[in-house]
Amino acid sequence: MPKAQLTVFITRPIPTECIVALKKYARVIIRRTDSIITRTELLRGIRQADILLPILTDAIDDQVLAAAPKLKLIANFGAGYNNIDVTAATKRGVLISNTPDVLTDTTAELAITLLLAVARRVVWADQQMRTGRYPGWGPLQYLGHGVSGKTLGIIGLGRIGSRVAEIAHHGFGMHILYYTKHKERDVEKSLGAKKVPLTSLLRRSDFVTLHVPLTRETTHLISQPQLAQMKSTAFLINTSRGPVVNEAAVVQAVRQQRIAGAGFDVYEHEPRLTPGLAALPNVVLLPHIGSATHETRVAMGMLAVKNIIAFIKHQRLPSVVNHPARSV
Ligand code: DGY
Repeated sequence: MPKAQLTVFITRPIPTECIVALKKYARVIIRRTDSIITRTELLRGIRQADILLPILTDAIDDQVLAAAPKLKLIANFGAGYNNIDVTAATKRGVLISNTPDVLTDTTAELAITLLLAVARRVVWADQQMRTGRYPGWGPLQYLGHGVSGKTLGIIGLGRIGSRVAEIAHHGFGMHILYYTKHKERDVEKSLGAKKVPLTSLLRRSDFVTLHVPLTRETTHLISQPQLAQMKSTAFLINTSRGPVVNEAAVVQAVRQQRIAGAGFDVYEHEPRLTPGLAALPNVVLLPHIGSATHETRVAMGMLAVKNIIAFIKHQRLPSVVNHPARSV
């Protein structure tokens, strides 16, 4: 298949170096507007595309796939790919790739940032300074919670969860509990981590951090009954996907002091906030910046491009998600 015949549609501006690399191998149509693509634009843009490079806010469902008769590959810009109907794409013979690994450290760093921020009330304290409310040092002022030596419960011990465990254990001497399907013997050996049932993790942890993909099983994994099992001094951190958490239940739990607070980078109704969340001073809210460093966004773009180039060259893709029986 001559390379010039393949058209790649990119739904959102991505780092320039990625586009330069891709243009050597394919015809590239890039949507220049830096805002979420509308459904109409997506359906129009995908019509001529052999390859789509979408981002995590683009819902690639069966209707979109039906509008793309030439589509052969979806090279998602993102590790999570819950924005794509994998079953529908697979049925239509469309390959899917993602961008794992390159964002592991960056996202783990942000989970730890949120953990420290909620524990030490950093954002609220900053606001006190800026609004001229700091009256001078006092022994009982601005008290938060310590992190060192505390227990961290990690739900989902994949790449990012494992990296969070390492930083927390080696950096702060935290005790690691984890909840996953499979026992992670290496992490148990190197960090003394313990696999426990979810209930036990929630009951024993001072901080609970979420690192699961969004699936039917993980939707609202943390809801009112789970929050009720947490310590009243514990914090919930979510850098995975918003709908893993029932945010209305978190608002209630924090208001009623059934948990101490929360740190979110992702939202159930992203980019909208659940009513009540923004009014809680012991909740830190970030705009989905888990992978937002210059280096990581270039690395993510380059990995998406490498997947496309490998596909064009009929080579094995570095990070493929599905295995359609028949590729169009
Ligand atoms: C991903 O790649 O899934 C992340 O959420 C982006 O930060």
